[in-house]
Amino acid sequence: MQLSKGAEAYIYLEGDRIVKVRESKKYRINEIDSKLIKSRTKKESTALSKCNQHNIPSPKLIEFNSNKIVMSYIEGKTLSHYKNDIYYKQAGKILAELHKINLCHGDFTPNNLIVNSEVVYVIDFGLCEFSTYLEKKSTDLRVMKDSLKNEELFKIFLESYMSNYNEGPVVFERYLKNESRGRYKERV
Ligand SMILES: Nc1ncnc2c1ncn2[C@@H]1O[C@H](COP(=O)(O)OP(=O)(O)O)[C@@H](O)[C@H]1O
Ligand SMILES: [Mg+2]
Repeated sequence: MQLSKGAEAYIYLEGDRIVKVRESKKYRINEIDSKLIKSRTKKESTALSKCNQHNIPSPKLIEFNSNKIVMSYIEGKTLSHYKNDIYYKQAGKILAELHKINLCHGDFTPNNLIVNSEVVYVIDFGLCEFSTYLEKKSTDLRVMKDSLKNEELFKIFLESYMSNYNEGPVVFERYLKNESRGRYKERV
């Protein structure tokens, strides 16, 4: 059963597994395209595997090849359906755990977090990057702030992020610095 077709990938549900497939785009030169697909698939698989290793709630990586990732299906609704403090606290902890291993998600929004049996899971590492840069980490905070559009929940999220990550306050400092320079506004 096809669940979704994003800008980049098709998502199929097969039993209790999710299959994420990247297809060639006709307008891209074929050879470049397959290299791009391969590197993105590899990056996303590596990210999932790291999360699994570090017990960060996320789909289990089952297998992958050059354009396809098979992972476990996380049943439930996305975090965007909820306003519970407890879930945003968990989301903050998840981002802290990701940043501790220098994994920047790239699209850390309530739509890429799924709630299953009171536990929040992170999905969709399609835009992730392994980076120690404060800039990339602070962008994860900014993307959550902008998509959440709820000051109170963002505060809960942020407090949890900072209390679970030693370098959290430094990342937040960068976030504030960029905000005061209006750096984020240009992007929206
Ligand atoms: N492991 C998973 N478990 C449950 N649902 C998933 C899983 N992976 C993807 N999905 C569903 O498919 C949608 C699109 O997948 P995602 O990886 O976010 O790709 P895209 O890059 O298109 O956003 C998600 O919003 C979610 O609803
Ligand atoms: Mg997504």
